[in-house]
Amino acid sequence: MLITQNMKMAEVIHMNYTLLPVINRFEIELGFGDSTVEEVCKINKVNVHFFLEIINAFNDKDYFPKKNLQQFSVSLIVNYLRKNHIYYISEIIPHIEQAINSLSDNSNNSKLLKNFFAEYKKELLYHIEREEKVVYPYVIDIETANNSTKHADNLSKYSIDIFADEHENIEEKLFDLKNIIIKYMPSRTESGIYNKILFDLFTLEKDLNDHSRIEEKVLIPKVREIEKSLKKL
Ligand SMILES: [Fe+2]
Ligand SMILES: [Fe+2]
Repeated sequence: MLITQNMKMAEVIHMNYTLLPVINRFEIELGFGDSTVEEVCKINKVNVHFFLEIINAFNDKDYFPKKNLQQFSVSLIVNYLRKNHIYYISEIIPHIEQAINSLSDNSNNSKLLKNFFAEYKKELLYHIEREEKVVYPYVIDIETANNSTKHADNLSKYSIDIFADEHENIEEKLFDLKNIIIKYMPSRTESGIYNKILFDLFTLEKDLNDHSRIEEKVLIPKVREIEKSLKKL
């Protein structure tokens, strides 16, 4: 079901509570009363069109915000993607880590899980760091240059195609981690914790998937267009 600006925000959450962290990343707090999506966005100074594209992309995996999202600025997208990164680093990863560390059994299984997760965390942090330090500053720079019709210094040093080529599917690597728990981790005493970890890993996977979709299907083509127009200068 498509979420529109005239729907009540409370209804949106009743319809799909998994959108809560997504809404939260727009720094929109609970307590909506009967306000519509449009009204809530206005009060919170959030661009309602951008909000709708993101929220619909998360709500329906087949929804693809091609047309509308292309009309937003690169910095609005980057700003949003950065909030996603913060959510992974400071909320969901520590949350899963805490649950894994709370496993009291010192079996080979739990050690295996700990090692696997530590390895995954390292890769995810590296992935994020590369985007934060190299890719995002570059794309912001390109947009600024485009707006001021000045030549971009970075244009010769980097290109969005480099990012497109090296951008790894970091969510796919969660599959092995989930599989270890699903297939090989029976636990009579701590099955609740294992189930919770598994559920959180599925949530992280979905969120990363949507995040990567925005990086690949929106950010990359948009920056490619800007690069093209700058090269003509
Ligand atoms: Fe990212
Ligand atoms: Fe990424």
